[in-house]
Amino acid sequence: MPKKVERPLIERLKTGVPGFDKLIAGGIPRGFFVAVVGEPGTGKTVFSIHFAWKGIEDGDKVVYVTTEESRESIIRQAEMFGMDFSRAIADNKLIIIDALMKSQKDEWTLEELSVEELINKVIEAKKVLGYGRARLIIDSMSAFWLDKPAMARKYSYMVKRILYRWDFTTLMVSQYAVTTSYAFGWGVEHVADGIIRFRRGIKKGVLKRYVIVEKMRQTPHDLRMYEIDIVDGKGMIILRPTEMRKEDVVLPYEVQKKIIENIKKEEEELP
Ligand SMILES: Nc1ncnc2c1ncn2[C@@H]1O[C@H](COP(=O)(O)OP(=O)(O)OP(=O)(O)O)[C@@H](O)[C@H]1O
Ligand SMILES: [Mg+2]
Repeated sequence: MPKKVERPLIERLKTGVPGFDKLIAGGIPRGFFVAVVGEPGTGKTVFSIHFAWKGIEDGDKVVYVTTEESRESIIRQAEMFGMDFSRAIADNKLIIIDALMKSQKDEWTLEELSVEELINKVIEAKKVLGYGRARLIIDSMSAFWLDKPAMARKYSYMVKRILYRWDFTTLMVSQYAVTTSYAFGWGVEHVADGIIRFRRGIKKGVLKRYVIVEKMRQTPHDLRMYEIDIVDGKGMIILRPTEMRKEDVVLPYEVQKKIIENIKKEEEELP
């Protein structure tokens, strides 16, 4: 008789998105560095907000870095789903680092968009929140390599290597260029322990959103693309697996090829 394989016990952090955790065997393994990618408006920030809130509920220390929206905007968005981020901040369970550099400067704003400053601030925040299991959301990392896409991989690796020691499980949001469906900052996906990809498409004149787990190390994850919804008062929900073809959500091959060629050319031109 074949010997039964013992599954190693892996501690997993729930994402807090109803219906999502069962796609990844219960949650994201502790200490993982997961890329959350997708076009604008597909739900990356909403997903990140759920992950942060679940952390607060589960007693984790949570650090949320926001580069695309102000701290106030993130708090307001969370509030719409019944998550009281202001309270969590007051209770020293959550620190939102504002890297937009537009709002009032305070202890938790970044002076410049450098990866070194980001790492230092995050560590400072962790010290203030205290010892123990922690969650980090960087929404988004793209801002840090906007003017130097060739650095994307190196930067991600730096963040992963240094912050792992601080007991973080990390979501690293990365955008797509609007027209491309192609990861902005490529090579990042190899550094990541997991990739959660959000997509969008128009079906019968209606905007639909989807999510697919493209990679999750050490996890027998679901391989299907799921339709999702974002509901007022609730947040993100997972609806059902779709039977869409890849062509329904990505650009024609010729267009993609051109975009990739352009990115490569840009990288070669970098000093
Ligand atoms: N209260 C709400 N009720 C219903 N839908 C909402 C609500 N708040 C936000 N949304 C939806 O969520 C979308 C924004 O999603 P999200 O901010 O997560 O996108 P994103 O992937 O982070 O985009 P970007 O790359 O531009 O930051 C909105 O465009 C809207 O469709
Ligand atoms: Mg966003």
